[in-house]
Amino acid sequence: MRKKIVAGNWKMNKTTGEAAALAEAVKAALNGVADVEVVLCPTFTALKTVGDILAGSLIRLGAQNMHWEKEGAFTGEISPGMVKDLGCQYVILGHSERRQFFHETDQNVNRKAKAALAAGLIPIVCVGETLEQREANQTEEVVTTQVTRSLAGLDEGGFRRVVVAYEPVWAIGTGRTATPAQAQAVHALIRQVLAKVCNPGAAQAVRIQYGGSVKPANARELFSQADIDGGLIGGAALEAGSFADIVKAAL
Ligand code: PGA
Repeated sequence: MRKKIVAGNWKMNKTTGEAAALAEAVKAALNGVADVEVVLCPTFTALKTVGDILAGSLIRLGAQNMHWEKEGAFTGEISPGMVKDLGCQYVILGHSERRQFFHETDQNVNRKAKAALAAGLIPIVCVGETLEQREANQTEEVVTTQVTRSLAGLDEGGFRRVVVAYEPVWAIGTGRTATPAQAQAVHALIRQVLAKVCNPGAAQAVRIQYGGSVKPANARELFSQADIDGGLIGGAALEAGSFADIVKAAL
């Protein structure tokens, strides 16, 4: 049985003080919830503060990005070891905003995924098609390529630990959610692709989150689909009550 995982992607929101208040509120709202893995992903600047608040709780800490190199002349970048050093267990990689605005490629995501696993971090690898691609019937091709290239060459032990997040770009921050059936169809495809990239047993172990305008009102139906193992939540994760309701929808 795959344990469901719900992660809050706070994106470029919240000062340290605001992040602390949100983390405290989420911690209080989810006190005692053990059957869903919960991850909070604040900005780099708030990781230490939020990590201190979450210490001793069941809620995990994640970063939103990292570089693949261990150290060196990479101005403005943060290494896997630095992320780990701040108490992170997870790192989001290849989010569509990074692909779109910062030219992140599948090849870079692949390097980062390997580096994350080597550092003892669990990568949350994001994939998903744009509206243009969906309307041109390219969803399968785009997602297959992203999954295959982003996860190429991982050893089976690492592969099984990876979390994949399917986030149709047209559903992110738009209020437009994929229907549960639309999402399930792509999740099932992703699991078939995972079986080819590694093997069917490993593919069954990998958790596949759905992301894109998940809210308390639509979370339960999405999370009840056979291949949807939780969610990556943006806007609704910025408010403790709605995030906690979404987590509880995965119970
Ligand atoms: P959203 O963002 O929930 O605001 O649509 C999801 C994400 O980008 O991870």
